[in-house]
Amino acid sequence: IDFRKAEFLISAPDIAHLNEYLPGDVGVEIAFAGRSNAGKSSALNLLTEQKIARTSKTPGRTQLINVFRLDKHRRLVDLPGYGFAQVPLALKLKWQESLGEYLLKRDCLSGVVVLMDIRHPLKDLDMQMIEWAVESHIPVLALLTKADKLGQSARMKMVNEVRKKLSHFEDGVKVEPFSSLKGIGKGKVLGILDSWCKP
Ligand code: GTP
Ligand code: MG
Repeated sequence: IDFRKAEFLISAPDIAHLNEYLPGDVGVEIAFAGRSNAGKSSALNLLTEQKIARTSKTPGRTQLINVFRLDKHRRLVDLPGYGFAQVPLALKLKWQESLGEYLLKRDCLSGVVVLMDIRHPLKDLDMQMIEWAVESHIPVLALLTKADKLGQSARMKMVNEVRKKLSHFEDGVKVEPFSSLKGIGKGKVLGILDSWCKP
């Protein structure tokens, strides 16, 4: 799969609308999930080599589910960030419910990338996302983003700690360092996403 061929397809305010816009729940979907400001949109831009997703210094920038098409059958999905402090609690809870519904019920979901800032990974909601995906037998790639913020040894120490904390999930969860700024992990991630794209 050539990820550089990604094109914007649709935006949906919630899962119900996603089902309406993309009827049938068919093909292959790979979702990017993570806390607000974790670097989801930046990662999509690095991987597609395009300014395809809007990034921002202000957390909570991506408030819609943005769907990008790779080809006729395959899609990448930029999910809104969770855990953003400024969002009213009721809206936060609605979003968590909606994300759970997507992770647990979407049949075409073939892989979930959970992005976490390498300096503070595995918050409660990150664990929840990973658990939902594993429960649905969907492979997970935990990406430790902004790896450029740490030196090589601190970075590997964190990667190993997170691998250990997720080791009870066995083969279902991979952990890799990543930096959209420096391109760290790009080749490895593209290889994993490509393997998820196989029918
Ligand atoms: P929401 O859409 O709000 O959920 O955020 P997001 O997860 O899409 O994050 P986004 O890609 O917009 O990036 C948030 C901020 O982190 C921006 O200021 C980016 O420039 C910065 N950032 C993203 N990736 C990296 C990285 O690899 N290294 C560094 N140093 N900064 C990064
Ligand atoms: Mg975003």
